[in-house]
Amino acid sequence: MRLKMDFMGLSLKNPVMVAAGPWSRNPETIMRSLDAGASAVVTETIAMEVRQNVRPWIYSKNEGYQNVRLYSDHALEQWLVFIRQIKKEGGTVIASIMAHSPSEMAYIAKSVYKAGADAIELGLSIPHGEGVAVMGSDPDHMYNSVKRVIQSVDIPVMVKFSPHVTNISELAKVVEKAGASGISAIDTVRSIIGVDLETSKPLLATYGGYSGVPIKPIGLATVASIAQSVKIPVCGIGGISNWSDGLEYMMLGASTIQIGSAIMTHGPEVISDVIQGMDKWLEQKQLRAEGIVGKALSNLKSFDEIEILPYKAVLNGTCPESSCETCVVGCLVGALEKKNGNIVYHQELCNGCGLCVSLCKDQNFELKWRL
Ligand SMILES: Cc1cc2nc3c(=O)[nH]c(=O)nc-3n(C[C@H](O)[C@H](O)[C@H](O)COP(=O)(O)O)c2cc1C
Repeated sequence: MRLKMDFMGLSLKNPVMVAAGPWSRNPETIMRSLDAGASAVVTETIAMEVRQNVRPWIYSKNEGYQNVRLYSDHALEQWLVFIRQIKKEGGTVIASIMAHSPSEMAYIAKSVYKAGADAIELGLSIPHGEGVAVMGSDPDHMYNSVKRVIQSVDIPVMVKFSPHVTNISELAKVVEKAGASGISAIDTVRSIIGVDLETSKPLLATYGGYSGVPIKPIGLATVASIAQSVKIPVCGIGGISNWSDGLEYMMLGASTIQIGSAIMTHGPEVISDVIQGMDKWLEQKQLRAEGIVGKALSNLKSFDEIEILPYKAVLNGTCPESSCETCVVGCLVGALEKKNGNIVYHQELCNGCGLCVSLCKDQNFELKWRL
């Protein structure tokens, strides 16, 4: 009950869904996520043509992934069979679709709707291929695609956003005006994950989309911007790998969340871990999931609103001799110094940047703000 969420008219048992990607490429993988507790699964993106993927298509480094996979390698007809099969097994399935024109988009939408999809996610946001450059940042194209799709189906339509567009508030309003039921964000971030110095070759052959833990801050900012711009519900995606990540997205305005890369890192069990963790936290706080949506937005100020106060850090307690020196190294004004094995704090030099507060991981050592 605590986790129940109404999202775009869908009555969901919890806010945790699974994102479009190869972890939802067929009924077996989709059912695995649903069995792990996901309230809905977004399919890998369905297009008219079958895409033969380049190989290799994914590289992992520092908890981030670059992929150069564009969309599903199953044809539309095959997906219609898949969707019917998932519906027979009682799953909630959101069909992610993409096309080169609004009329093609409407055709695919109508097909997946007739096959029984519970909702549609428009994938106009892939950072490689023609995604964002051609479709996902053009307000007219967005408006026409959404409008055509909505006229063709009788299920909720959400639009997936890229973090790359600079006019995110404007685009969110365009999509809302066109009649979309919701917005999901973010798709992957355009990337080159690295270069092999010996061969002078990038680690993957072309630009790709970056996902996983490192993109969470970009996702949070994008979701907050969208939530501040429109009234339709938002679904948060990007770097969610545990329950607190999911709750952070919700506090910044997401009614639901989607998990993607974490399934490659931890397996589908990550879905049940996130759900259980959220439930436990909400129980401890005596809250319902619906009650926390957007709770942090009123504390999110615009730059001009930030009050310029003479904050300083305060060193509370003592730092044990064996501890690290990260605060000393990080302090660019020399306010922290290690002397005879102890951290010495020179408050008169502190300019209140706040870095030491986030750097200090030692529980015996506390730094607080003081006016
Ligand atoms: C290998 C891979 C394939 C993906 N394929 C799709 C896709 O077909 N359609 C889509 O809309 N997003 C696709 N995505 C993006 C994810 O749905 C998600 O938006 C992104 O990975 C950020 O979430 P994450 O950090 O939890 O993975 C893909 C991501 C990865 C890593």
